[in-house]
Formats: sequence, C-alpha cells, structure tokens
Amino acid sequence: MQTKYILDEKDIPKKWYNILSEMPNKPHPPLHPGTIKPIGPEDLAPLFPMALIEQEVSLEKYIDIPEEVLNILTMWRPTPLYRAHRLEKAIGTKSKIYYKYEGTSPAGSHKPNTAVAQAYYNKKEGVKKLSTETGAGQWGSSLALAGSLFGLEVKVYMVKVSYEQKPYRRALMEAWGANVVPSPTTETQAGRSILEKDPNSQGSLGIAISEAVEVAAQNADTKYSLGSVLNHVLHHQTIIGEECIKQMQMTGDYPDVVIASAGGGSNFAGIAFPFLREKIAGKNIKIVAVEPTACPTLTKGEFSYDFGDTVGLTPLVKMYTLGHDFMPPGIHAGGLRYHGMAPIVSQLYHDSLIEALSLEQAKIFEGASIFAKNEGIIPAPESAHAVQGAIEEAKKADEEGKTKTILFNLSGHGHFDMSAYTQYFSGKLEDSTLSEIKLKESLSSLPVV
Ligand SMILES: Cc1ncc(COP(=O)(O)O)c(C=O)c1O
Repeated sequence: MQTKYILDEKDIPKKWYNILSEMPNKPHPPLHPGTIKPIGPEDLAPLFPMALIEQEVSLEKYIDIPEEVLNILTMWRPTPLYRAHRLEKAIGTKSKIYYKYEGTSPAGSHKPNTAVAQAYYNKKEGVKKLSTETGAGQWGSSLALAGSLFGLEVKVYMVKVSYEQKPYRRALMEAWGANVVPSPTTETQAGRSILEKDPNSQGSLGIAISEAVEVAAQNADTKYSLGSVLNHVLHHQTIIGEECIKQMQMTGDYPDVVIASAGGGSNFAGIAFPFLREKIAGKNIKIVAVEPTACPTLTKGEFSYDFGDTVGLTPLVKMYTLGHDFMPPGIHAGGLRYHGMAPIVSQLYHDSLIEALSLEQAKIFEGASIFAKNEGIIPAPESAHAVQGAIEEAKKADEEGKTKTILFNLSGHGHFDMSAYTQYFSGKLEDSTLSEIKLKESLSSLPVV
C-alpha cells in the first residue's frame, strides 16, 4: 500500500511544455485596447521582459528551463504524488484517488513555479522592480519570495478585502521584503478613478491588475508580473504535470480523470496540459476544471473579447469572461474570483477538449474538511475545489458501478485561510451563486470588437 511517489532531484523536468504548439485551434490574437488591432511584441515591451514575450508567442513544443531556475525549483521540487488511501476509505469509494501536492513550496502553493522563472528573466534583462496584484495573497507571496531570491524589489497591490482578512499573508510578503498596499489605492490613476466612484470599494483582482500595470507602464525600471492567465505562466506550470506523468508511471495506474481548480487557469494548465498532450495523441482522459458558483467563468461566462483588468488598460483577449467590471462576492477562495480565464484554457474548453464544473462554497469546505481529517493536509480554499471535484467524480463512478483512477492537483495548503475554516465550522459560511440578473448586468459591459 504505497502512499507517496517521490522523484529524485535529478528527475526534475528540464523543459516546459507549450500546448500552443499542438492545439487544434489556436487562441485568437490579443488586441490593442486603443486600436483594436492585433498587438505586437513592442506593445508588450513596457510591461514584460523580451524573453517572456517570446515565450508568450512561441510555437515551439518545448522550452528549456534555465539552469538558474532549476537550481531554485529544486529547493522544493519535485513535489510528491500521494495515493489518498484514507480519503478513499472515508468516502467508501472503489475508485483510486491520487493527488499531486504543490503546497510544499515555501509560499505554500504552485505559484512560485512561475514566480521564480519570471523573476529570473526580469533580472537578466536589468529590471530593478516588479509590480503585481494579489487576491488571496498566494501569488503576491510567491513573487515576494522570488524577488528576494533574485534581489528584485517587489510591489504588491493586494485586493483590499483580502488585505484585511489575511494579515499573515501580508506579513509573509513583508518578511520576504515586498511592499504591500491595499488596492484600490490613491497612488495610481486607476485606483483614484475607482475610489471616486466608490470610496468604500473592497477591491477586486481586476482593479489591482489595473494599478500594477499602470505603475509598470509609467516607470522604466519596473515591469509587471502576472501569476496566471498568460501563455508563458501556463507553460511554466507544466512542470507539475510533467513530474506527474513520471509519478503515475511509478504507480502502475493511469488517470481516467484529471481535475484541478481554475481561477485564471494556471494550476489547472500545470497538471492538465501534459496529459492533454497524451489526450490529443489518442488517450481517453476526462479533464475537468472546477470553479466556484460565485464566479462561474467557464460554466456561465461568454467566450468573447474582453479586458484582462477592470479599468481597461490591458490588451483585449478572447476568453470566457463574466465581464471586466464583474465584482465577485467575497468568497474565501480569493484566487478563484477573477472575471476571466486564460485564453488557452478558454479555447480548449470551447473546443470541448476539457470540461468544467462549478461548486458551492459550503460543499467545498465539506470536502476540504473530510480531506483534512483523513489525509492530514489542510487544503487552500482554492485547492479544495479540486478535492470536492475528485470526491464527486469518485461517487459518480461508484453509482455507475465503475472503478476509476482519479488524479487531482492539490495546488496549495490553507494555513493562512483558517478563518474561513472557522466560519465553516461555526455554520456561518454562506453560499453565493451568481444570479442571472447580475450575470447579464456584468456581461453588458463587454467591449464591442
Ligand atoms: C492555492 C491556489 N490554487 C489555485 C489558485 C487559482 O489560480 P490558478 O487558476 O491560476 O491556478 C490560486 C490563486 O491564487 C491559489 O492560490
């Protein structure tokens, strides 16, 4: 009854996988927000270093991971793959459940996989400062960590509601040397324009992105860094699935179903894309992205061109979106409150290569607490969507009299999210499903392209 499948440090993947190289339909080109014409590398140059812009548009199947990046990733990678024997027993399933655990990174999630790579390329091109946004704080702390390892200054615009709810995430970022401010701020034009309309704004990822982008666009020594959504971020995360393919070989099983939570799409891409490579080559695998009913981007959104931020500073991208001024309710899975979805993930969903499922918050915490009581690890509220997705998949297989092998990505731990668990245990946690009226209202702001 083996529980952990561990790779040797020397077996860490040396290349990222670029699914763009073999997608049947490529994502639509990003458009300039002013001219509505496809953007070129020069339009992105004020925001990103050239090496990342090249990765953004690359059609090479594999991208070499630089030695310096691998040296840092081996501080916690390869990460373990677990067989969830105790969870299987607790829910009484005949199926086999495996999970890849990304919470072993210093910041506690998958986000440092790309933070380290992004900090490396920025440092190499002489950048001094990185600006970014963060919701729950997982991304901000990952970039703070990477910035401290490469000697870069990091400025984090943290969504105000999370800044107030999660003082220890903020403290973690500060411990790694980052400067953290609650967004919207009065420091930027974007922040001031939001506060003029709503002085009590609790902020959103879309607003924080507007602030961080504005600062990078206006300062020559500063670039912007994004923790999800963009093609290069998704490529960097494929190290998860590449490790997992080797680890599944060690188990002697092969997944029938691969599941991950999806906010902007990066941890989903990380575990799913290497398996999608095998699906495109003929394997029969069901691949599921799980999102909250409070922010149901794939399951209820429109496949349309939209801004990546609230104010409209970023290029227009074709993606599933709830509308760029969608204000998500303050659910605890802060990392799943983004109005859009990665263009690559959106196109794959549009082409039916992947599926999506939305779940209620209380159900998520029910699954997370069964998992915690049996497997020991406290899942981050975002990751708990994948946990519950896997439980439901196993139960469905039992009802159908089938035995499946289910693999999910446990993208992070919830040690900084204990107040959410306290609320759940005291019965105070509320479900919030996006209403049709609110959805219609936020979709009405979609730009006409
Ligand atoms: C632990 C964890 N999982 C998942 C997510 C969702 O983001 P993504 O869809 O980019 O993986 C986040 C975002 O902050 C997160 O912190």
